[in-house]
Amino acid sequence: MTNIKDYPAIVISNKHIDDNIFLIELLLPGFDGKAEPGQFIMIKIDETYDPFLRRPYSIFECKKEKVKILIKTVGKGSKMIAEKKRKEEMDILGPLGNGFPVDKNNYPILVAGGMGIAPLWFLGRRLTKLRNKFSIIFGEKTTTPLAEEIKKTFGAKVFFVTDDGSRGIKLTASAALPLILDKSPYRKFSIYACGPKGMLKDVINFGSGRNIPVYVSLEEKMACGIGVCLGCSVKRRGTDGFLTVCRDGPVFKGEEVMI
Ligand SMILES: Cc1cc2nc3c(=O)[nH]c(=O)nc-3n(C[C@H](O)[C@H](O)[C@H](O)COP(=O)(O)OP(=O)(O)OC[C@H]3O[C@@H](n4cnc5c(N)ncnc54)[C@H](O)[C@@H]3O)c2cc1C
Ligand code: FES
Repeated sequence: MTNIKDYPAIVISNKHIDDNIFLIELLLPGFDGKAEPGQFIMIKIDETYDPFLRRPYSIFECKKEKVKILIKTVGKGSKMIAEKKRKEEMDILGPLGNGFPVDKNNYPILVAGGMGIAPLWFLGRRLTKLRNKFSIIFGEKTTTPLAEEIKKTFGAKVFFVTDDGSRGIKLTASAALPLILDKSPYRKFSIYACGPKGMLKDVINFGSGRNIPVYVSLEEKMACGIGVCLGCSVKRRGTDGFLTVCRDGPVFKGEEVMI
């Protein structure tokens, strides 16, 4: 990718979706809008060095000079980002990493666990634009207003599952996969997944059992975001080697990585 740059970004809007979930739209002056679903940005929150490191966020949507991120507050950095108001500034490095490859001959099934929806939302929007048919399995512990946002945008394409049965079927997202596939009129599939590691492991095992290609988007703590510090390394399956999530990923073929 040649359009990786450091952009002085301005907050256009910050929408409170749920207790700790925010949808932030940023203006990146000069950004050409070229990014692939699965790519991410690194945010330097302000001019102080506390927190010292930039924080990585998936691109949720992007349209020339405008980038959206969906952010869950989990610690100091994410809380500071979530507190940003209209017209406030942040420094954005990106777009970084690789994106989800689309197998044109296969029916895409997007499997999102909770905040794992962030990169898959962008993929869903891209597939819609390309007029590709697809399905989404969205799983949560218990239903949240995020599910409503997903329903508003993707409608009948989404199968909701929750651990407690508060929306959709009472199942985990990975356990819903065989139900969806076995009822589908399609025969060839690709699975795209992002979410908790346990879910990703189950999805990879399911895919390898049925000979279905699986692409997973991984999250690791990051420092540089550009493949220099090796802080985000994951084990490469079947070798002694490692892969960096920021430069070799964050999207990997399921059989490529040990998670
Ligand atoms: C490629 C990539 C894309 C991401 N996309 C999103 C996104 O779209 N939306 C979103 O809300 N979050 C996303 N994350 C996770 C997000 O970067 C972390 O939640 C954030 O960096 C935490 O910073 P903090 O200062 O608030 O938390 P800290 O104070 O640093 O940590 C608080 C807690 O969060 C955990 N944590 C910190 N960093 C990560 C991480 N990278 N992955 C998982 N857990 C972490 C810590 O172990 C700790 O338990 C992404 C991470 C990566 C690597
Ligand atoms: S964060 Fe430095 S190599 Fe990935």
